[in-house]
Amino acid sequence: MKILGQYFPSFKTKQEEKIYFRKLTEADIIPLVEFYYHLSQETRYLRFQMITDGIPENKVYEYAEKLCKLENKGLAIVAYTYEDSIESFVGVARYMQNLETDTQAEFAIVLQDGFQGKGIGRYLLHLLFEEAKRYGLIKLYGTMLYSNTGIIELIKKVAPDNHHFTHAEGQMEVEIIL
Ligand SMILES: CC(C)(COP(=O)(O)OP(=O)(O)OC[C@H]1O[C@@H](n2cnc3c(N)ncnc32)[C@H](O)[C@@H]1OP(=O)(O)O)[C@@H](O)C(=O)NCCC(=O)NCCS
Repeated sequence: MKILGQYFPSFKTKQEEKIYFRKLTEADIIPLVEFYYHLSQETRYLRFQMITDGIPENKVYEYAEKLCKLENKGLAIVAYTYEDSIESFVGVARYMQNLETDTQAEFAIVLQDGFQGKGIGRYLLHLLFEEAKRYGLIKLYGTMLYSNTGIIELIKKVAPDNHHFTHAEGQMEVEIIL
């Protein structure tokens, strides 16, 4: 296995699929772009809260590049399978600060369609929250569609006593106190 950046403990789904986790690095831009193009229209809509079909490729590349080069302005963790020496990205969770010195950051998560509902989101979001705490962050926040039961239920499970939802014009905002 190639050694790239920081690794985290692996996880086995109920279906016995082994999922690995590591920090995204500069070498991951192209696989991350491919990961986004493999998400279904619905998953992309839930993640980005808008139709993303017409977004130019260079914008997708720029976004992937940003996640892969966060340095001290956040953390992006990729979940992947590893078979026959090939990594396949199955999910990404990240938080991003506006400034390096910020103690709060915006977070988001997305799983490849075929890997949703297997407990990976729960494990990955927990990992992200623990890492944020370890890096000294105090609060994470995010927005989601009001109808996005998946992420709302997931947050309730991962941060049962330290989340706070507010409603805002068809969207929900959430704050997690770490
Ligand atoms: C939301 C998302 C990250 C959840 O990840 P996941 O791996 O599918 O969720 P998990 O299998 O880990 O489920 C965790 C818990 O949340 C609950 N949950 C997840 N999706 C749910 C749904 N659609 N309805 C009800 N509960 C749900 C599960 O019951 C589970 O509880 P349990 O651990 O007690 O069994 C994933 O479905 C996804 O990528 N969705 C599209 C993108 C998105 O909405 N991103 C969030 C916007 S930032």
